[in-house]
Amino acid sequence: MKRVLGIETSCDETGVAIYDETEGLVSNIVYSQSDLHSRYGGVVPELASRDHIRKVLPIVDAALSDANLRKGDITGLAYTRGPGLMGALLVGAAVARSLAYALRIPGLGVNHMEAHLLAPMLEGERPDFPFLALLVSGGHTMLVSVLGHGRYQLLGESVDDAAGEAFDKTAKLLGLPYPGGPELAKLAERGTSGRFVFPRPMTGRPGLDMSFSGLKTFALNTVKKQLRDEQAAADIALAFEVAIVETLAIKCNRAMDQTGFKSLIVAGGVGANLRLRERLRTVAAARGAEVFYPRPSYCTDNGAMVALAGYYRLKAGECDGLDFGTNARWPLGTMLPPTVRD
Ligand code: KG4
Ligand code: ZN
Repeated sequence: MKRVLGIETSCDETGVAIYDETEGLVSNIVYSQSDLHSRYGGVVPELASRDHIRKVLPIVDAALSDANLRKGDITGLAYTRGPGLMGALLVGAAVARSLAYALRIPGLGVNHMEAHLLAPMLEGERPDFPFLALLVSGGHTMLVSVLGHGRYQLLGESVDDAAGEAFDKTAKLLGLPYPGGPELAKLAERGTSGRFVFPRPMTGRPGLDMSFSGLKTFALNTVKKQLRDEQAAADIALAFEVAIVETLAIKCNRAMDQTGFKSLIVAGGVGANLRLRERLRTVAAARGAEVFYPRPSYCTDNGAMVALAGYYRLKAGECDGLDFGTNARWPLGTMLPPTVRD
C-alpha cells in the first residue's frame, strides 16, 4: 500500500491528506468551517454537509498538487465512516468511494476515534504498544487501553458531556465565539489563579468514568453571581480550565496505576490545550512514564490521521465493497484488529 489519500468530513472540518509509505505525510490540508457556524454558536449539521460538498473535491485537487502527484499515483483511499454527523460523513464517503471506484483502487471507511488515537504515530517519536490513550474531543472523552492496532478496551468515559463540549458551552456562557475551547484557553491565560475554585467531578470515588456537565452548571452559577468585570471572566475561565485539566490528570494517573502502562498518548481536539499538555507531562514524568502528543494541528480534526489509520488497515488487505455506509455511532471497543482478506 504505497500511498493513501485520506478524507475527513465527520463534523466541521474538511480535511484531505496523503500518506506515503516511505516519505510519510506528503500533503495535509484542513479547511475549517468555523466562520460558517460561528454566528449560530455551534455546528449546524445541514450547513456542514453542504459546505463539505463545496470544498471536498477542490481540496482533494489541492492536496494532490501540493504533493506534486496525480490521482493515478494514489494506491488507496480512506475516509471517515463514523462516528460523526450523518450528512457530513456521507459526503466524504460518497466522494471517496467514487474516487476509489473510478481509480480502481481499494477504499476503506475508518473509525474517526481510531484515527485520533493513531495520530501520535504521525510524529517522529512514536509510542510502542501497549499504551494508554486519553481521547478528548468535542464529542468524546475516553480512556482506552491500546494493546495493538484495533485492540482497544474502553477503561472509562464521560457519562455526560465530553470535555470539549464542556469547554465550548462554558466559553459560550462567557460570551466567547465558537469554537469556544481555544478561546477560553486564551482568556484563561489572563486569569488570577485561585480566585475561583471549581470541583473535580467524580475524582473522589474509584473508577475511570468522568462527568463534565456539572462543571458547566457550576460555571453558570459562578457567572450569574460573580461576573462583574472582564477580569472575573478570565478568572472563571482559568478555574474551569484548571478543573478539567486536574480531573483528566487524576484519571490518567489512576488508569496508569490500573494498567501498569508506561506510555500515555493524548489525542483529540482538547489535546491541543497547552495547560493539559504541560500538566500530563508532569504527571507522567513523576511516575517515570512518557507522554506522547501529536502536534496541535494533528489533535484537532484532519485528514492526516484518517490517511494513516486507513493505511494500516488497507496494507493488511482490508477494503470495503462497492456499497458504502456511514456510522453516526461507532464505539471504539467494537473495532477488530486489521484483518487480511483475499
Ligand atoms: O477532535 P476535534 O477537532 O473534533 C471532534 O472530533 O469533536 O475536537 C474539537 C473540540 C472542540 O470542543 C474544541 O473547543 C476543543 O476540541 N479544543 C480545545 C482546544 N482546541 C480545540 N479545547 C481546549 N483548549 C484548546 N486549545
Ligand atoms: Zn475529532
